[in-house]
Amino acid sequence: MSLPNYAYFQGKIVPYDQAKVGVLNHTFNYGTGVFGGIRAYWNDRDGQLYLFRPQDHFRRFLDSARLLDMSLPQTPAQLTDVVVELLRREGRREDTYVRPLAYVPDETVGVRLHDLHADITIVSIPFGRYIESEEGSHVTFSSWRRIDDNCIPARGKVIGAYVNSAFIKTDAVRAGYDEALVLNQDGHVSEGSAENFFMVRGGVLVTPPVTENILEGITRRTVIQLAQEELGMTVVERPIDRTEVYLAEEAFFCGTGVQIVAITQVDHRPIADGKMGSFVSRLRDLYFRIVRGMEPKYQNWNTAVYPKPGRD
Ligand SMILES: Cc1ncc(COP(=O)(O)O)c(C=O)c1O
Repeated sequence: MSLPNYAYFQGKIVPYDQAKVGVLNHTFNYGTGVFGGIRAYWNDRDGQLYLFRPQDHFRRFLDSARLLDMSLPQTPAQLTDVVVELLRREGRREDTYVRPLAYVPDETVGVRLHDLHADITIVSIPFGRYIESEEGSHVTFSSWRRIDDNCIPARGKVIGAYVNSAFIKTDAVRAGYDEALVLNQDGHVSEGSAENFFMVRGGVLVTPPVTENILEGITRRTVIQLAQEELGMTVVERPIDRTEVYLAEEAFFCGTGVQIVAITQVDHRPIADGKMGSFVSRLRDLYFRIVRGMEPKYQNWNTAVYPKPGRD
């Protein structure tokens, strides 16, 4: 991976190699920070880079920071402006991933959330697929359990909590799978290591509710809206048992990183006929048109990075 040229750091865009923190900083030592992940899609026809739902991502990012008692004055609109400026400075003309991170710069020893400062850094990198087999992934049920809301809230993207995701992902990949589904303490399906989960059962789209220790995904919200408004699907948010997944007609992961990934096998059991189903296929087509700015109805979800001709 090549490093970015610039970073937003201490309130300014600076050369990436000037964005440095001391090794004693609190987040490095205790995981007391939060992060986000936003994709920007290059549209060749428009000669434009479109950020997908950046303000919604920053709303969740600031909510995650609030969970950690971080006080940050920036608004989602201001942070989106920073990202636009950063991407212009980088001159990105390809699919890109933007990584905002709120951290505690204080170089101090002592585990706590109070009496600390908070700051934001943002970088961007070129980004393609997160899971190679997007059209048909093989997934296992992790032997790890999802962190509970009363341990570290999964609804916030808390840096330290991603050790849970790292265990889940690494064990799955080392065992030859693409990803893993993880159960919560009640034995219900929560999500993947870094993606939300949906299945089709009895012709209905089902996903775990936000009380099942999931991240409240922006893509999840997008999928629910598109399924109901564009694809004529009933969506139900309810707990999901492990063996329901074995019997599902279709299953998929969604998230900014993975985008929409069909799950076609779980623990060597094919989902239905073991091929990507028609709902996931239609959803993927629509999703990729929308994120790339090809669907006028949903253009309010696309923030253009470069000045439009005759404007700005
Ligand atoms: C644990 C987890 N669940 C779900 C998601 C998907 O969330 P979003 O669609 O907001 O990217 C992510 C990705 O960021 C994640 O880390």
